[in-house]
Amino acid sequence: MDRVTTDATHLRGVASTTLWTLYNRASEAARPDGVLRDPVAIDLLDAIDYPFQAVLGEPDQSHSLRAVAFDRAVTDYVRDHPDGTVVALGEGLETGFWRTDNGRIRWVSLDFPEVVRLRRELLPECDRIRHLAGSALDLSWMDEVDASAPVFVNAQGLLPYLQPEDAIGLILGCAAQFRGGRMIFDLVPPWHSKRSKSGTARGRSFTVPPVPFGMTARDALRLADDVYGVESAVVLRPPAGRGWRRRAVATVGALPVVRNHRFAICLLRFTP
Ligand SMILES: C[S@@+](CC[C@H](N)C(=O)[O-])C[C@H]1O[C@@H](n2cnc3c(N)ncnc32)[C@H](O)[C@@H]1O
Repeated sequence: MDRVTTDATHLRGVASTTLWTLYNRASEAARPDGVLRDPVAIDLLDAIDYPFQAVLGEPDQSHSLRAVAFDRAVTDYVRDHPDGTVVALGEGLETGFWRTDNGRIRWVSLDFPEVVRLRRELLPECDRIRHLAGSALDLSWMDEVDASAPVFVNAQGLLPYLQPEDAIGLILGCAAQFRGGRMIFDLVPPWHSKRSKSGTARGRSFTVPPVPFGMTARDALRLADDVYGVESAVVLRPPAGRGWRRRAVATVGALPVVRNHRFAICLLRFTP
């Protein structure tokens, strides 16, 4: 019987980057020695009609390692707040809900309409998942989230694509609205943001759109002093990963002179 797939070649610009991260995660999850377990991502990749390998080249484990670090933070939060809400901003085709669900949490998933359409069509339904179609920068999405319950904002893979003032504005807005909550996001270092403006080729024909928002790990820690409503900030590192090359990079990256200029993951606690 022919496999039925859904075309995703219409995704453009920053929306298309979700195909890149899904491809990397699902390919990793399909390996017996993969760093991520994610059967939902494997099925999702299989259901999408897109020339993944031709456009993106060979998959790598970086996005899976990032997802593992984000999952750990979500899981910690869910353990402490089993009836809380996770708000996944720019969620794309992430399947973290099925990796971290405790059977009780509510999950709000926000992305552009063309991405949300694919999620609705291709991912399993659950009455605790709510989809919002629009921009994370139009803060009216906050009205749709019950701020009286504990909220964890997960902005995996989103902030670097925003203008710096928009990224900081989003953090400020979340801190004001979700008091006592947490927010996690990843950061590219300023050198990478600068370089991205000249185009960073991936694989054969995919070019990652520019990432205008770059921030060092040290500046991320300062968010607790500089942004009203942020009580504390910590920088998390993803696991070292599979293979000696990856582990060597992780070891060098942990050296004090290097670590401030690497990709980082930042977890904020908002003031109650
Ligand atoms: C690199 S992908 C990351 C997707 C997913 N979070 C992950 O980690 O695999 C970036 C996602 O952010 C979404 N995005 C970018 N800017 C956005 C905005 N202003 N509002 C909502 N979504 C946005 C894109 O559509 C895309 O799905």
